[in-house]
Amino acid sequence: MNADPLVRTAAELVSPDRGILAADESNSTIANRFDDIDTESSLDNRRAYRELLFTTPDMERYVSGVILYDETLRQEAADGTPFVQLLASKGVQAGIKVDQGPQPLAGYPGEMVTEGLTGLRERLKEYADLGASFAKWRAVIEIDPDAGIPTAAGIDANAHALARYAALCQEQGLVPIVEPEVVMEGSHDLAACEAATEHSLATVFEHLRRFGVLLEGVLLKPNMVVSGKTCPTQASVDEVAAATLRCFRRTVPAAVPGIVFLSGGQSPQDATAHLNAMNAMGPSPWELSYSYGRALQQPALAAWLGKPQNVEAAQRAFGQRARLNSLARSGAYDASMELAA
Ligand code: 13P
Repeated sequence: MNADPLVRTAAELVSPDRGILAADESNSTIANRFDDIDTESSLDNRRAYRELLFTTPDMERYVSGVILYDETLRQEAADGTPFVQLLASKGVQAGIKVDQGPQPLAGYPGEMVTEGLTGLRERLKEYADLGASFAKWRAVIEIDPDAGIPTAAGIDANAHALARYAALCQEQGLVPIVEPEVVMEGSHDLAACEAATEHSLATVFEHLRRFGVLLEGVLLKPNMVVSGKTCPTQASVDEVAAATLRCFRRTVPAAVPGIVFLSGGQSPQDATAHLNAMNAMGPSPWELSYSYGRALQQPALAAWLGKPQNVEAAQRAFGQRARLNSLARSGAYDASMELAA
């Protein structure tokens, strides 16, 4: 493993005022997003939509890296410029989703384990040749307190896979984004999310150490500690920020350069407000940044509606969201900015 480039890449991805755009929806996920706006998920529509995002004016001021799906990593803009080259020309790094999705965990009904380790070394080699500098693997941890979920076995299986993925990435010179996502679905309260997140993160870092992963050369992409989506009592912005920071201080070593949150189904405004509150409570041992998918893209999709004449409006919506999240990196965002926008 060559440590220096990994450390540099990770540090660059969490450099001040910028964060990551997760645009790595698999073809089935992007089809769902396009369904919501009555747009066909054709190869060309997917290409046009990603081009819209990547050519948004000033996006490089707010975006340090973009996570791509295999198809997009190999695609070109309308003028023939490969997307990876287009991003690189703006100083934006290309990342790649390399997991192959969650499958039911045998013997543990209701729990999943993410697959994709077979042949991963060869795939990583090819992605590095295609210009990717970082990768992502997402584990899915559900909460169902009545069923005793998550179990220690479910958490262990996912942490093991994340650590083997991370070690392979570093061997091939790619920075691994380690994403153990405790999902928001359910009626559980904030405390249940905190307990599951703490257990999961503690286990993930135990496995990263066991497999010799260089902590200075990884980024953690976790959920925030939030109330379940259908919990009757929803925690406030400050409660979410305080619980999330408490959980990370207990589990995430200070050697990790950055925590890049997923949005996980939070509204774009909530995702920005929560990140802002955590940074305003600082200082923290790690950079606290974003790697949002839906929270960065929802307003853009709603403005685009699959129509070429809406591209500029969609770019404005994306640029605006990216700018507000950039402000949240230093605690400089205020909800009143939403109205001004
Ligand atoms: P969301 O921000 O929409 O949760 O997506 C982030 C991501 O990359 C999930 O793997």
